[in-house]
Amino acid sequence: MPARRRRGFLLTVEGVDGAGKSTQVRRIASLLKRSGLLVTVVREPGGTRLAERIRRLLLDFRSAELADPAELFLYLAARGQLFAEVIEPALRRGELVLCDRFTDSTLAYQGHARGFAEPLLRKLNDLSTADRRPDLTILLDLPLSVSSRRKGRTPDRLESEKIRFYRKVQAGYRRAARREPRRIVTVDASGDADAVFAQIKAVLERRVLGRLRR
Ligand SMILES: Nc1ncnc2c1ncn2[C@@H]1O[C@H](COP(=O)(O)OP(=O)(O)OP(=O)(O)O)[C@@H](O)[C@H]1O
Ligand SMILES: [Mg+2]
Repeated sequence: MPARRRRGFLLTVEGVDGAGKSTQVRRIASLLKRSGLLVTVVREPGGTRLAERIRRLLLDFRSAELADPAELFLYLAARGQLFAEVIEPALRRGELVLCDRFTDSTLAYQGHARGFAEPLLRKLNDLSTADRRPDLTILLDLPLSVSSRRKGRTPDRLESEKIRFYRKVQAGYRRAARREPRRIVTVDASGDADAVFAQIKAVLERRVLGRLRR
C-alpha cells in the first residue's frame, strides 16, 4: 500500500484529565517502535517553540481568567503550529504520528463543556490541521468515581464545579465516539495500566499492526 504508507498514519489518544493518556502513550510508542514503525510522538498543547510558549500561557492563566474565545484560539494556534511544523512533515515521510490529545479535545472541552457550536469547532479544527483528520483515536473512558479515587480525595464544594465541567467533557467525548464509531475506539480506562494497555494493544493489532503485516 505505498500510497497509504506515504500518507502516514495519525493516531490520537484522548480522554478527560488524568484518564491515563500520557501513561498509555508511552506504552503505545514503545510497542509500535518495537514492531518496526517509525513513530513521532507529540503532546498537545506543545511540541514546537511557539506551541510550548502557548502551553505555558495556558498553564499560567487559569481557565477562570481566560475568556472562552481566547482559550479556544490559543489551543488552535498551538495546534496549527504543531501540525505545520512537526505532524505534517512526519506524515509526509510516511511515519506514524502519535498525539497525546488532539482535535477531539477541542470538541469535548470547548464544544460540549464550554458551549461553542460543534460545526464551528469542526471547521476550526480542519483549518488548524489542513483538513487532515486522525486515522484512529483511542478514547480512554474513565468513570468519575474512579477518577476521584485516583486523586485520593473526596471532592469539596469548590471541586463540585470542576466535577460538573468534567461530566460535560466526558459526555462530549462519548458523543463524539457515538458519531464516529469507526474512527474513535472507546477503551475502558478504569483498570490498572496493564489492563488498559491490553485493550489498546488488541485495537492496535487489529487496526494498525495487522494491516502493515499483510
Ligand atoms: N490505569 C491506571 N490506574 C491507576 N493509576 C493510573 C493509571 N494510569 C495512570 N495512572 C496514574 O494516574 C495519574 C494520571 O495519569 P496520566 O498522567 O497518564 O493521565 P493523563 O490522561 O495524561 O492526564 P492529563 O490529562 O492531566 O495529562 C498518574 O499519576 C498515573 O501514574
Ligand atoms: Mg497527560
